[in-house]
Amino acid sequence: MAVIMLNLVLHIRHILLGLPLVTLFMSCAKDTPIPPKFLVALPQAPAHFPPKHYDNPQNTLSLEGIELGRKLFYDKSLSQTGEISCASCHKQKAAFSDPGKAFSNGIYGRKGQRHSPALFNLAWQPRFHWDGGINHIEIQPIAPLQDSSEMGMPLINVVRVVGSDQKYKEAFKKVFDTDTVTDKWILYALAQFTTSMISADAKYDRVIQNKAVFTDSEKRGQQLFKLQCAGCHKPPLFSDFSFRNNGLPIKNEEYGRFIITQDEADKGKFKVPSLRNIQLSPPYMHDGRFESIDEVLDHYIAAQNHHPKADAGLPQNLKLTPNERADLKNFLETLTDESFISNPLFSDPNK
Ligand code: HEC
Ligand code: HEC
Repeated sequence: MAVIMLNLVLHIRHILLGLPLVTLFMSCAKDTPIPPKFLVALPQAPAHFPPKHYDNPQNTLSLEGIELGRKLFYDKSLSQTGEISCASCHKQKAAFSDPGKAFSNGIYGRKGQRHSPALFNLAWQPRFHWDGGINHIEIQPIAPLQDSSEMGMPLINVVRVVGSDQKYKEAFKKVFDTDTVTDKWILYALAQFTTSMISADAKYDRVIQNKAVFTDSEKRGQQLFKLQCAGCHKPPLFSDFSFRNNGLPIKNEEYGRFIITQDEADKGKFKVPSLRNIQLSPPYMHDGRFESIDEVLDHYIAAQNHHPKADAGLPQNLKLTPNERADLKNFLETLTDESFISNPLFSDPNK
């Protein structure tokens, strides 16, 4: 059974990797570009961020488009049972992760096999999911929408539900100037929302902008971080978006990147997650195996012993005195962005 499931997952992933992107962009080519129609006061990236990865001139960002994507993100009627929305597993108060849950509940209380990651700064990310199996933010939602342990809704049904709702129809008309709601427009609207979720107002950012100063402990923590962690968790996004083996013992035949590439060298590699808002999104790692930052640090102290293929860039013989541990944790706390988790642009529109 598990094997069949895995094959199915693989199959779906491969379809995902190939087809939808092609259909999406084939249909783009036929359309005339959408003129920017709305005055935009959109979430802006700060000067200390690199250029974004996501850039689709066909999908012009607008406040109305983000708003439409937000409605879809919080809409439970996009699931088979009408009980699960994207936000069921991606909660704003936890930087759009599912706090306290190693595995989230989808329809019928089903659980998946991976931890729900926090969502922010997605416009900078070249690949998605822990194994990077999805290579475009616009096709990403097809996975949770259709997955039988997440929302369980064939895309065609999603289109039917959204397309038969008068309010949605009017909104799509306004944003994309279309009379017909298709999967492409739904995915575009969701991408407008997800790529606008910028988290760049943590204390760390305000220090860079000379609006705040680190305490001595945070400064020492930053030094430790630069030495031991920044090679993979690269500022200012706190990830280099590479796939690495950070020394976790493999559990449940979960091989990460290998599932996608089938390259032996990729066994046990996972996408380096950003450490922004890390305080808000326990438990940690792709399977939520660690409850706390302390457990994560204990892992890195011993990581080289755990795994024969552990990345050479991992901390070597890391030892942390109680003070150093406190410094490092204090620095990590400066990555928490309170204004992101309270930004009304991203909050539940039904409340
Ligand atoms: C049942 C829980 C659940 C639901 C519902 C859900 N997600 Fe997720 N989401 C996850 C999990 C688990 C992952 C990691 C999947 C993996 O790595 O294979 C994920 C990954 C993602 C990612 C990739 C993040 C990254 O850093 O790679 C994005 C983006 C995302 N989800 C957006 C959405 C959107 C949009 C919806 C609604 C259409 C949605 N999710 C619905 C659980 C969920
Ligand atoms: C060689 C690259 C590398 C280095 C160096 C590294 N990490 Fe990681 N880190 C990873 C990868 C890869 C993951 C995801 C692993 C997984 O989920 O299987 C990760 C996950 C994490 C997580 C969990 C994030 C989440 O959202 O669940 C935390 C916290 C973390 N690292 C902190 C640190 C700290 C602190 C340091 C320095 C002491 C550090 N890392 C050094 C690669 C690295």
